[in-house]
Amino acid sequence: MTTSLAPVAAGAPDVRERLSLDAGWLFTQGDPAGIGDELSYTNMKPWMMSTANTFVKGGEPVARPGNNTGADVDYVQRHFRDTGWEPLNLPHDWGIKGPFNTNDPGETGKLPCWGVGWYRKHFDIPRSDGNRRIYLDVDGAMSYANVWLNGYYVGGWPYGYASWELDLTRYVKVGGDNVLAIRLDNPKESSRWYPGAGIYRNVWLVKTGPIHIAHWGTYVTTPEINANAATVDVRFTVDNESRSDARISAENEVYALRADGEIGRHVASITSGDLNVAAHDSGTFESELHVGHPKLWSLEHPQQYVVVTTIEQDGKTIDTYQTPFGIRTIQFTADKGFLLNGEHVHLNGICDHSDLGALGMAVNVSALQRQIEILKEMGCNAIRTSHNPPAPELLDLCDRMGMLVMDESFDCWRKGKRPNDYHLLFQDWHERDWRAELRRDRNHPSIILWSIGNEVPDQGTSHGPHIAAELTRIAHEEDPTRPTTAACDHIDSGFDGFQTNLDVFGYNYKPFKYADFRQANPDQPLFGSETASTISSRGEYFYPVNTNRDDGEKDFQMSSYDLSAPQWATLPDTEFAGEDANPFVAGEFVWTGFDYLGEPTPFYEDGAPSRSSYFGIVDLAGFKKDRFYLYQSRWHPDFPMAHIVPQCWTWPGREGEVTPVFVYTSGDEAELFLNGKSLGRQTKGPSEYRLKWNDVTYQPGELKVVAYKNGKPCATDVVKTAGPAAKLVLTANHKKINQTEDELSYVTVTVEDQNGIVVPQADNLVHFQVSGPGEVVATDNGDPTDLTSFPSPDRKAFHGLALAIVRGTQEGGITLEATSPGLRSGKIEIRAE
Ligand code: GAL
Repeated sequence: MTTSLAPVAAGAPDVRERLSLDAGWLFTQGDPAGIGDELSYTNMKPWMMSTANTFVKGGEPVARPGNNTGADVDYVQRHFRDTGWEPLNLPHDWGIKGPFNTNDPGETGKLPCWGVGWYRKHFDIPRSDGNRRIYLDVDGAMSYANVWLNGYYVGGWPYGYASWELDLTRYVKVGGDNVLAIRLDNPKESSRWYPGAGIYRNVWLVKTGPIHIAHWGTYVTTPEINANAATVDVRFTVDNESRSDARISAENEVYALRADGEIGRHVASITSGDLNVAAHDSGTFESELHVGHPKLWSLEHPQQYVVVTTIEQDGKTIDTYQTPFGIRTIQFTADKGFLLNGEHVHLNGICDHSDLGALGMAVNVSALQRQIEILKEMGCNAIRTSHNPPAPELLDLCDRMGMLVMDESFDCWRKGKRPNDYHLLFQDWHERDWRAELRRDRNHPSIILWSIGNEVPDQGTSHGPHIAAELTRIAHEEDPTRPTTAACDHIDSGFDGFQTNLDVFGYNYKPFKYADFRQANPDQPLFGSETASTISSRGEYFYPVNTNRDDGEKDFQMSSYDLSAPQWATLPDTEFAGEDANPFVAGEFVWTGFDYLGEPTPFYEDGAPSRSSYFGIVDLAGFKKDRFYLYQSRWHPDFPMAHIVPQCWTWPGREGEVTPVFVYTSGDEAELFLNGKSLGRQTKGPSEYRLKWNDVTYQPGELKVVAYKNGKPCATDVVKTAGPAAKLVLTANHKKINQTEDELSYVTVTVEDQNGIVVPQADNLVHFQVSGPGEVVATDNGDPTDLTSFPSPDRKAFHGLALAIVRGTQEGGITLEATSPGLRSGKIEIRAE
């Protein structure tokens, strides 16, 4: 199941159907014996890749009839006996179940995601489809996909983050079993983080008549908006794959979309005159509609509309296509930053890789939704899809939930960062990949910026500006309504001319350059495209508290006093001060919202167990680190809150020792109390974002803070000394789940003492058991060094917390029980519907 709003079945089966092809695949790893290296990624050439995407001008990929790639490989044959292969449903990431291999690089998560994987899928095409076009739509496959149908090579696409479509029609067997075979090849040393492996996004079978709306063939813009009306411009392309010229008419209707994604009120419609499309040709048409009293898409009220485009021939409907869109204005300015619907919105953004922690790269709507809910609670209003096109479901959710998006394309261009990364593909593929991303995504109201790359090593070269200019030109061709940017780490890129190829300039980690940039480029909007990179492990506090960045490393953990960042990075406070001193800066995208698999800076040395990052504001399990509250205090200033650091006041043996206390608060001052005795009041000074009591001496009991805003008490926080661990307590983010695969319940276990205080150092081993129609899909605890594989039902608590992700397998009541030797067990009931 998916909540994707992309074009869906329109009702009449002979018109257009978009069917999920996720269920019932067979999988194996490695190639059959005896095949040469013909299929290796190193030998894949663009000419091999036939595709229905016809948007690359001058040299589109060619479907070569008679291309025999892999024709003699058993695995692609229709009658190959695949009964021994592993049955599974997509989305699937073959690396995530592990086991972790300590000798593999931490950079890619120590998980086995390299090598070759094969997928086969049997499906019927009924005789009644004889006259239809049949397409395979793949939202993402990691990586170097090659596809055969019934033994014939159809085509493929190498970039693992791209979405693509193949035309299967020529090879389809109507009225019988068809067999798709897909080979993926994931080269080692091709990524700086865990890329996942396999068909990790959704796959669709799209059926149309011979004359139909093209793939991603609609483009909806709103060139004029005022309080009374909005002009909606609908451009759509019709492909005529029949043998005769066609005279068609088209109707475009606009409806409001309800919050649940269903079509609501009809608001406008227009019928075109006759349109001619020659046989084997395409035609692009344009219609203009007017929506009265439009409800604007905003962060608080993300109202969406949908255009339903219907084309008719001889009075008969031959295709219907839905394009969700929003009515809103966006503007980046040099002096006031970013404006949404004419109002200033400071970009409180985070960067995020695509993995979903313990679920790996396998896309899941409820996991994404949970992430966005956590981010919104922090006051975050923007996501950067570092460093690649995201899953379409993320964009659908951002549209629906009111979250801005910086949609990024590449981590490198011609010069690579790893021996086998995208630089091998750049020359032949960048235009196809870039246009595919722009076409797929350009109707999403949440997207405000196109990013042409992250820290590309081509900065500072003579060819770099030319590539930047080309990518910006392509973006403007596909979508003139949004600006381009790049995330630049070279200081010089803001001054040497590179910047002139971008509409909006993005600096990574350069708050100290904001003022100089403005002086040199008075008219160019500016923002922090990547900021902070503070590193910490949830619940770890090291003494003495040291402000030296890389001090405080212990047991491959980082202290949570939020004072550590690698040498290229900054603390959150430094970035805040940079933005406050330069209010024209449109905002920032923090590295990162969530911990992610791989890149465990600073622990790369041999023998380091670390398999995931320390950068997250939230840990890999989705548990908030202290830093969450520092950002909340700034990004959600009207929300009364106070948060004590450390969140641990249980230090047996440290009695009498100096134990500094910080408070993150949206208030402006606060008073700290230890066992009822005031330790004084602190006030935030200029460029101060946290309150500090550096000389507190530890004694067990209760630490309490009372925060004030404008002299009035506004919030408190209390941390108490815990006794011995006594019990497990379970809470769930959803107590009712849908029985389909996408609906998950995230169950948190806390280890508590007998008075209900979380035991902050507890690392008890917890065993999860489900009764009823459900299963534990994965467990985690947010510890970057935990090498227990994710599907394990046994998981140690990390600083008192562990997580179980539960899925329903049928309707009914599920009980999840957590047990641990010596502790009272905990239970929770979840209803699968
Ligand atoms: C940046 C890079 C990110 C990540 C980050 C860690 O330079 O763009 O992908 O590596 O550093 O601090």
